[in-house]
Amino acid sequence: MKKTILTGLRPTGNLHLGHLFGAGQNYVKLQNDYEFFLEIADVQALTDNFNDPEKVRKNVYEITTDLLAIGIDPNKVNIFIQSQISEIAELTIFFSNLVTISRLYRNPTVKSEMAQKKELFGNDGESITYGFLGYPVSQAADITIFSGELVPVGDDQLPLLEQCREIVRKFNNIYGNTLIEPQPVLSETTRIKGLDGNDKMGKSLGNAIFLVDDEETITKKVMGAVTDPSKIKKDDPANPDICMVYYYHNLVTPKEELETVCSECKKGTRGCVNCKKQLIKNLNEFLKPIKERRKQYEENPEIVKDILEKGTNIAKKRATENMNKIKEAMKIDY
Ligand code: TRP
Ligand code: SF4
Repeated sequence: MKKTILTGLRPTGNLHLGHLFGAGQNYVKLQNDYEFFLEIADVQALTDNFNDPEKVRKNVYEITTDLLAIGIDPNKVNIFIQSQISEIAELTIFFSNLVTISRLYRNPTVKSEMAQKKELFGNDGESITYGFLGYPVSQAADITIFSGELVPVGDDQLPLLEQCREIVRKFNNIYGNTLIEPQPVLSETTRIKGLDGNDKMGKSLGNAIFLVDDEETITKKVMGAVTDPSKIKKDDPANPDICMVYYYHNLVTPKEELETVCSECKKGTRGCVNCKKQLIKNLNEFLKPIKERRKQYEENPEIVKDILEKGTNIAKKRATENMNKIKEAMKIDY
C-alpha cells in the first residue's frame, strides 16, 4: 500500500517562483509514489482574510490552475477544498480540548504571522481572533483526518507539524491508538530569496515573480533586481555570489551558460544590463511550458471545477471513514 501524503496551500494569491522551487517541484516528484491529498486551505485562508471572502474564493481557482500548470497530475493527486470537508471542522473541535492556549501563543509560526498582521491583530496581538490563534489545531485536524503520514512543508511550518504531533500523541494516549503521527518532509530547497535579496520570496514582500507574470512585468522586475552594489561601471569586476540576478540565473540558466555568466562577471567582461536581459530571456523560456499548460485550463474553467469536485469527493470519503473511527474511540458513536 502506498503511504499517504497530505499538504496544503492557502488560497490567498497566485503561485510564484518561491512556491515552485520551494514546494511545487517536490510535489510533482512525489505524486508518482504516494497517495497524495493536496488541500486548498480556504478555511485557513479565511482566518486572516475573513473580511475578504471574494479574494479567497477567486484564489481557490487561481491556485488550482497554477498547480495544474506546474505539472500536478489530477489523476495522481486529489486536489480538494478544505471548507467542503466538514469532518475537519468537527475534528478541530475535538482537538481543541487537547491543546492549551498558552501553547498556541508560544507557537513560533503563529507568533511571527501575528507580528506581520498588525493591522488585523493589533500591535501586540491584542486583537487576535480565536480562529487565528487556533488555526494550528485545525491544521492538525487537516492532516490527521486523512491519516496523512508524510507532510511536505517549508521549514517555517515545522512548529505547526510539531504541534500536530503533540495533539495526536495526546489523543492516542487518552482515547487509544487511533491516529497516525505525521512526519514532515522538507524539500531540498525550502526557500527562494526575493529579487531584492530578502531571505524569502513573498507576495506581501513585493519581491516575487509569479508564474502568471507576463514578459513585460518580468522585465520590469528583473531590471530592478539587486546586484553587487560595488559594481558601478559596466567593466568593473563583481561578485556574483551577492547578486540576485546571478542567484536567479542559477535556477533557470543552463549549466554551461551559467559558468560563463559567473566567470565574465568576476572578470568584469559583462555588463549588468545584458546579464539581466539574458536572465529575462531564460526566465521566459522556463515559464513558457507552464504558461501554455495554464492557458488550456484558463480557457476551460469547467475542467478545473471538475478536478476539484472529484478530488473533494475522494477526500470526503477518506475523512468520513476516519471520523467513524475517531468517534468510536471517543465514545461518541451514537
Ligand atoms: N499552513 C500552510 C501554509 O501556510 C498551509 C496548510 C494548510 C498546510 N493545511 C496544511 C500545510 C496541512 C501542510 C499540511 O503554507
Ligand atoms: Fe550580477 Fe550579472 Fe551584474 Fe554580475 S554582471 S553583478 S552577475 S547582474
